[in-house]
Amino acid sequence: MTTSPGTPVVVGITGASGAELARATVDALLDSGTPVIASASSASRLVWEHELDESFGAALERWTDTGLFTYHPPTQLNASIASGSLATRGMAIVPCSMATAAAVAHGFADNLIRRAADVCIKEKRPLVLVPRETPLSAIHLENLTSLARLGVTILPPEPPFYLRELTVDRIVDYIAHRVIVALGLADAMPETFRYDGP
Ligand SMILES: Cc1cc2nc3c(=O)[nH]c(=O)nc-3n(C[C@H](O)[C@H](O)[C@H](O)COP(=O)(O)O)c2cc1C
Repeated sequence: MTTSPGTPVVVGITGASGAELARATVDALLDSGTPVIASASSASRLVWEHELDESFGAALERWTDTGLFTYHPPTQLNASIASGSLATRGMAIVPCSMATAAAVAHGFADNLIRRAADVCIKEKRPLVLVPRETPLSAIHLENLTSLARLGVTILPPEPPFYLRELTVDRIVDYIAHRVIVALGLADAMPETFRYDGP
């Protein structure tokens, strides 16, 4: 299947800590002119409320105003992204809870986010998970390993300690750009985030 810059990317937002990572990733995708189709789990809405000042509704409005953004509730299992017949450039689940990682690792497609991820795996499209949990149990690691073996990119939100003057905003921005590169939408990280070695 061929895809063009007008082909959407799917973003699943789940109930791990790190709502800021979801907001920054959607912002960066839309800023780059990439259409986004998103869904957010009910747990993610609780985390969002707890961690961010901007309400989820306000963010949805802001994203919708770009004309590039579509939202489906996670219960809407008949949405376009539940089928492999809709061409997409892949999916990012950011942040990804251990519950969603477990479900996706086992093909348990009981909501739209999990089903859209299942579709990416079966259609061999890029799938990027930004898992957030610490410490990780053997259950978490085994699920993430199963997914990595299927070609899923496991991209934990690790700070780039080699960069100077790190702030949370800068780390979040770094991870959002890492997701974009992992999806194959950019060849390399912006200069400001690159390791400046000899
Ligand atoms: C404030 C808050 C923070 C949470 N942080 C995490 C987390 O960092 N990682 C995680 O795996 N689950 C976390 N959870 C638990 C998940 O939200 C829970 O397992 C939920 O069932 C995940 O559902 P979902 O994957 O459909 O979003 C958190 C829950 C709340 C309310």
